[in-house]
Amino acid sequence: TPKRLNPLRLHTSLPTLSPTEQGKRIAAYAAVDANVSLDSRVIGIGSGSTVPYVIERIVQQGEANVQRVFIPTGFQSKQLIVQNDLVLGDVDQYPAIDVTLDGADEVDGNLNALKGGGACHLREKVLAEAANIFVIVADERKNSKLLGTTWTQGVPIEVAPFAYAKVLQNVQKLGAMRPTLRMGVRKAGPVVTDNANFVIDAPFSESYYRDPKELLMRIKMLTGVVEVGLFCGMAKAAYFGYSNGSVLIRS
Ligand code: 5RP
Repeated sequence: TPKRLNPLRLHTSLPTLSPTEQGKRIAAYAAVDANVSLDSRVIGIGSGSTVPYVIERIVQQGEANVQRVFIPTGFQSKQLIVQNDLVLGDVDQYPAIDVTLDGADEVDGNLNALKGGGACHLREKVLAEAANIFVIVADERKNSKLLGTTWTQGVPIEVAPFAYAKVLQNVQKLGAMRPTLRMGVRKAGPVVTDNANFVIDAPFSESYYRDPKELLMRIKMLTGVVEVGLFCGMAKAAYFGYSNGSVLIRS
């Protein structure tokens, strides 16, 4: 059952932010406060624009961080860890993570999530799966009844570059409507992930999102697919920060 926190205590002394940024921040603060304890020694850090607030709150825990190691999900989170003088680790050294905190592009009522808007979903999924507790932090725009409602650009699919054209064709056969190869900002070439792969965005109609696990498995079976940005049944909780200052927790 969703639960609402009144987080006035959390944000009274924060500098002025846009309502969306405020939402991200209060969600991140509430998630860290509830899930990162003194016993949390190995911490996975996700990617995106919400995660800096996770790091901000963790840094405020001060001395506790001396005992901790932080595992990044990509270049941005690695920089965040290093710039905040936190200890950097890797998942091959620490395959058992205490807690991973990450953003999401959309989360449904069953805590299934669409991720990969930042093309980091392969590493994000590895760290979510390796974690004892995986928690999503997001602003209110990400809270949805059905995936694909607000995140309309489609399911992010990381593919081996050699296979992208074939995957585009096959994902269309699965039912995707006009899947596209994700291009860089100037459209001069494709987005290349931290793993040197490409990303396909594959929009599906509503009926496919009613069973996101089935959709995930069908896409994952396509040769050349490395990972799919559908995270089904992985999160223990999702924290959504609202512009009115409240946090909605789904667990
Ligand atoms: C990156 C992701 C991000 O977690 C997702 O895009 C959410 O980002 P933001 O916090 O900026 O809304 O999946 O691959």
